[in-house]
This record gives sequence, C-alpha cells and structure tokens, in this order.
Amino acid sequence: MILVTGGAGYIGAHTNKALNQAGYETVVVDNLVKGYEDFVKWGHFENYNFGSKDLREVFEKYDIDGVLHFGAFSSVAESVELPQKYFKNNYKNTINLLQIMREFGVNKFILSSTAAVYGNPEKVPITEDQELKPINPYGHSKFITEKALEREAAKGDFNYVALRYFNAAGCDFDCEIGELHEPETHLIPLVLDAAIGRRDSISIFGTDYNTPDGTCVRDYIHVNDLAKAHIDAYEYLCNENESNVFNLGNGKGFSVKEVIDMVKKVTGKDFPVKLDERREGDPDILIADATKIKDKLGWTPQYDLETIVESAWNWHKKIYQD
Ligand code: UFG
Repeated sequence: MILVTGGAGYIGAHTNKALNQAGYETVVVDNLVKGYEDFVKWGHFENYNFGSKDLREVFEKYDIDGVLHFGAFSSVAESVELPQKYFKNNYKNTINLLQIMREFGVNKFILSSTAAVYGNPEKVPITEDQELKPINPYGHSKFITEKALEREAAKGDFNYVALRYFNAAGCDFDCEIGELHEPETHLIPLVLDAAIGRRDSISIFGTDYNTPDGTCVRDYIHVNDLAKAHIDAYEYLCNENESNVFNLGNGKGFSVKEVIDMVKKVTGKDFPVKLDERREGDPDILIADATKIKDKLGWTPQYDLETIVESAWNWHKKIYQD
C-alpha cells in the first residue's frame, strides 16, 4: 500500500489516479484544507493532518510500503507574506511524518520538491548540481526538507527521491479531476478565467525581467507527466538501494506573454492584457535540464504547452460552463 499525502490536491490527485491505474493500492491522507474529497476517486481516504501525532493510526490500520508526500503549501506569493506557515507545514510537519515512518519501518519516500529551490539560477537549463539558493520562503522550506532527507538517508535503511517540479500545469484528459486552488494564483488557470469570462482581464506581473520579451520565463510540465515520473521514481526506490534528486520539466521555456498567446489560440477567445508591477519572489527564468531522470529512469515528458493548455481549458469549461 502506498500512502499519498495531499492526494486530494492537484498533483497528488492526478498521481493517485495514475498509481491506481498502474495497479498500486493507495491510501490518501489529506486534511482537506487545500484538497477536495471529490478528487479522491481511487483508493482509500483518511482525513488527517500529516503533521499530527494521530497520523500513527493510519500506519496502524494499513500496511504501508512507501510514502509519496505531496502535502504542502505551494504558493510563492503567499509564502512571502506568511513564511512561518510555510516552514511549519512544509518542513516541520514533514519531520513528524518521517518520525512516524521510522517507527513503523517504512523506508521509501518521495518528496514533491520544486524548482524554487534554485532561486535565480546561475545558468539555464538548470541541472540538479547547481547551487541551491532559494529566494522565497516556499523554495526555502523545500530546500531544508531536502536537507533533512539527505541526513535521514545517511543514517541508513531509508531512501528518498526528491522530485523538483518546474511549473505543473494541465489537467486529467478525462476531466475527472483537475486544477482547483482557492484562491487561484497560477498563470494558466487565471488566463483561462479571463478567456471564459470569470475575470475581465489578465495582468502580467513585471515586464522588465532579463528575458527576451521582458516577462518571466517558466518551464510548464503536464501534471500527467509528473504523475508518471512518481511511478518511475517509486519503482526505482523498490529496485535500487539509493536516494536521488531529479528535475522534472520539459526543458523548454515560455514567457508569460507566450502563455497568454497560447491560451488565446487554444480557446479562440480574446481578452484585455494589463501590464502590472513585478510580484515579489519571482525569478526571471526557470527551465529544467531533465537529462538526469531521462538517463536514470527512462522518463520522458509526453505533452507540450498546447496540449497542456487544451487539457486545462477542457477542465475549465467542465467546471465553469457545464
Ligand atoms: N503571473 C502573471 N500574472 C498572473 C499570475 C502569474 O504574470 O496573474 C506570472 C508570475 O509572475 C510568474 C509566472 O506567471 O512569472 C508563473 O506564475 P505561477 O504563479 O503560475 O507559477 P510560479 O512560477 O510562481 O510557481 C510555480 C509553482 C511553485 C513552483 C514554481 C517552480 O506554483 O510552487 O512554479 O517553477 F515552485
């Protein structure tokens, strides 16, 4: 049985579906602060905070072989406003989970890490061996969690994989689950809100970045490509007695302006675009070099930006138009 924390949230729910489709049994643990019970359509569900001592009850009830840890807060902007919230949930509560895993002899762990651990990278595409210099509390909370895992693995009888996601985007092609944040801060769903008429316009946060068109460049990766990487990483942990860290991205960067143009193309809708101030904590450019995971696990992303936006648009129409 695989324990999936945060499995009622966006990336956790997509991975939980993929795990069940691949034949794994899962139990989702989520306190539904950010997640949706409706998104847990596969496997078991238990409502717990992964930072709670009561989480032991889940380990007593199920025969857990490994943990996929999605449970976390993940808004860069919010983390700048509320750093303690991020360090407590993303770091301290993860330590609680690790303690309980040790008590029950569970020794396989996959962390949802992030490109935000790199801060403003020295060179792009970014390889895993670049120095980690996070520039916002969210990235910092994941950085210290990775360090805690490194120390835990060094003690022995414990292996982990940290997956550093670039910009997760897109939705389940069956539209059974999708991306839903309250409040929404991510670029693609916000631009789709403008396309569908839920907002009057979209604002570009900063036009003076050190990028070709002055707007931030990001590497958008389909959530199903991320889900597949978790399965590959779990199989790696089952077969090899080692830990590792991998970037997960497409290796291609798109500026905020290019994403807006893609949404206009895919949806056939036009809407006003406003040029706004920078948002604090945003690096200029984040593009993955994902060679390491391709070489080591044979993982290759399947979906391009157009497919990402199409799948997100289909989900958007389902929840806001049907
Ligand atoms: N942006 C706008 N207007 C908006 C919303 C966003 O211009 O209304 C810009 C942001 O300033 C940024 C880009 O669009 O330059 C992407 O922003 P998102 O909020 O969609 O994503 P982030 O790059 O800030 O962060 C995401 C995840 C993080 C993760 C990071 C890694 O939310 O958890 O990708 O690349 F760390």
